[in-house]
Amino acid sequence: ATIQWFPGHMTRARRQIEEKLKLIDVAIELIDARVPLSSRNPMVDTILQHKPRLVLLNKLDLADPAATADWVAFFQEKGLDALPIDAVTGSGTRDIVPRCRKLMAEKMEARQRKGMNPRAIRALIVGIPNVGKSTLINKLAGRKVAATGDKPGVTKGQQWIKMAGGELELLDTPGILWPKFEDQQVGLRLATIGSIKEEIMPADEVAFYAVRYIAEAYPGVLSERYGIGELPADLSEAETVIEVMENIGRKRGCVVSGGRVDLGKASTLILRELRAGKLGRISLERPDMA
Ligand code: G4P
Repeated sequence: ATIQWFPGHMTRARRQIEEKLKLIDVAIELIDARVPLSSRNPMVDTILQHKPRLVLLNKLDLADPAATADWVAFFQEKGLDALPIDAVTGSGTRDIVPRCRKLMAEKMEARQRKGMNPRAIRALIVGIPNVGKSTLINKLAGRKVAATGDKPGVTKGQQWIKMAGGELELLDTPGILWPKFEDQQVGLRLATIGSIKEEIMPADEVAFYAVRYIAEAYPGVLSERYGIGELPADLSEAETVIEVMENIGRKRGCVVSGGRVDLGKASTLILRELRAGKLGRISLERPDMA
């Protein structure tokens, strides 16, 4: 589910989310723990307004645990409850219902005081493509209910998935938001994690960005993985970064006739391994970048 959006999509997506917001109590904003800034919609606060909100930092298995802890603190400072999860294994997801209950405690108590019957908390998952919305919905439902793929505008019968003995109901179709397209850094980071098609952002450009970032933020990781010796301390020159990429390519047999390194092939390999977590748990953004 890579990101391919047109302006008309945004208007339609926004209208659809606003329709869904009328049905729910809590918005669950799903973002990618490796890129908590770039995987957020630029208008999310305006769109969700004052709905009680839970922020889920998904793909915790791929993110740097120290960075993720800093991000949880960052969101909490902004008054947003945040929880790291892994939608594939379900790690952390047990806490979703208690967190939603807490967010709704006052409202539910007020209902009770007025003598109204208790009712289920209704929730909606929102997020940009590829953050794991369908995976999470299926995990929480315990079966396959959400189709992967993000085509805003497909209206189908929405259903409630009951959880926690009927205490929480989750809408089975997520609210799809768009990322901040205009920002080149955002584009590079989303492409690095595999959320933007190669035709839009070529692999060598993305790998160049990723290699320079990893070499600076996680010194030792590249030389250890690829056995390329110590990296140069100064990576400000483009040639230096390309040299590192070439060394990796040579080590991994990405060569064409004549022994020249195939940079495209090397780039694809580096990105594939990074996305699969082979380079360890790496976060591309930290709260001080906000
Ligand atoms: P979406 O509905 O928000 O668009 O996302 P979706 O559930 O389709 O998930 C996108 C990809 O992210 C899927 O990989 C999914 O398995 C993966 N994913 C979701 N949650 C987690 C997580 O917590 N950890 C890890 N490691 N991966 C997660 P995919 O099916 O392989 O798709 P793709 O990678 O080929 O795009």
